[in-house]
Amino acid sequence: MKKVQFAKLLRPWIDRIKDEELREKVLLTFESALKKSGYSKPEQFLKMPFTLLTNCRSITFLEHTLAVTAGAVGLAQAQMSHYEKPPYEIEMDRLIAGGLLHDVGKIAEIEPYKDGYRKSRNGMCMRHPISGVALAYEQGLPPEVLNCIGCHAKEGEGRPQTVETVLIHQADYATFDPLVMLEKGSLIA
Ligand SMILES: [Fe+2]
Repeated sequence: MKKVQFAKLLRPWIDRIKDEELREKVLLTFESALKKSGYSKPEQFLKMPFTLLTNCRSITFLEHTLAVTAGAVGLAQAQMSHYEKPPYEIEMDRLIAGGLLHDVGKIAEIEPYKDGYRKSRNGMCMRHPISGVALAYEQGLPPEVLNCIGCHAKEGEGRPQTVETVLIHQADYATFDPLVMLEKGSLIA
């Protein structure tokens, strides 16, 4: 699967990255992640679940990636449109690039197996924030975007984070926690 296909799959958010070079690097990271992975058929990748940690109820990796990016952008807009004097700047290109790439390491962490998916050898050796940083670093993504990838999950707890990482983290957990609660029976219907 080439970067032109990722450019379609990651719409509308990929088109909202204004910096052309940054946009290109995001697409190249997806392309190289998939090339190195155990996915030989595009359908296998398109159906890849976004997590193996809970029943993700057929929400795919791509759906999750786009929803988290949209959520993080929403959180940014909520603050920017209501604060008279914003105490920090939120960099939208960085936020969108970070949102799209935050879980790119899952392409290395999860592999197709029989009729489903399992944790790959790569995934046993490192979680997706680590493999994601490696993949993005290789394509020359700036350190602030690497912070979004490497520190969006528990690896980032108590660590210095960019404000974009904080927003991505919150949007990510807002999509993950209700599924875990649904599984445990603690989500009130
Ligand atoms: Fe995520």
